[in-house]
Amino acid sequence: MTTGLFVTFEGGDGAGKTTQARLLEEWLRGSGREVVRTREPGGTEVGVLVRDIVLHHRGEVAPRAEALLYAADRAQHVATLVRPALDRGDVVIQDRYLDSSVAYQGAGRVLDAKEIRELSLWAADGLLPDLTVLLDLDPEAARVRLDADDKPFDRLEAEEADFHARVRAAFLSLAAAEPDRFLVLDAALPVTELAAAVRERIAPLL
Ligand code: TYD
Repeated sequence: MTTGLFVTFEGGDGAGKTTQARLLEEWLRGSGREVVRTREPGGTEVGVLVRDIVLHHRGEVAPRAEALLYAADRAQHVATLVRPALDRGDVVIQDRYLDSSVAYQGAGRVLDAKEIRELSLWAADGLLPDLTVLLDLDPEAARVRLDADDKPFDRLEAEEADFHARVRAAFLSLAAAEPDRFLVLDAALPVTELAAAVRERIAPLL
């Protein structure tokens, strides 16, 4: 039985998840809540090692191996950080979770989406977010933002446009299938407007 609140941010690369996660954290802390802000891949020591393989390994990583690496990162993260925080009653704000696996490894890499979801749920011992904010952005617009960032692309960011189009479509269909869990926002809206929409949706859950 968890007593905290588990909020995840999802969306393509460059959609602004990190900014919105930070703004939500500041608002919640300002109203006196204990907050743990974290991310996948890489929210734990083991996760940092896994992150390095999945994002920066130069040779081929087979799709199933990639799916298992993200699942391993998730298993460690949930068991050692997320679940304990929720048990303490904290709010956990997390950049990416199992929907990223379904979208990227499922639709992007064309593995079976249902199998990927089940693998992730097994890894996470069944933990689902109370709320998932999907920041939806046209991959073309996202690419412009990423180019402006001046950071080298990781393995997934470097994928072709149709990969990112499939990922976007997969996120939208996940959201349509679970409207109670998802809040879908147009990531092209101004940052402050997005933050206000997130706060409005979360307030009744607190
Ligand atoms: P992210 O941390 O958002 O990258 P950045 O630090 O550049 O903002 O995510 C890293 C990449 O990992 C991103 O392209 C999506 C991908 N990913 C998956 O393919 N599957 C997953 O399960 C997760 C959590 C991320």
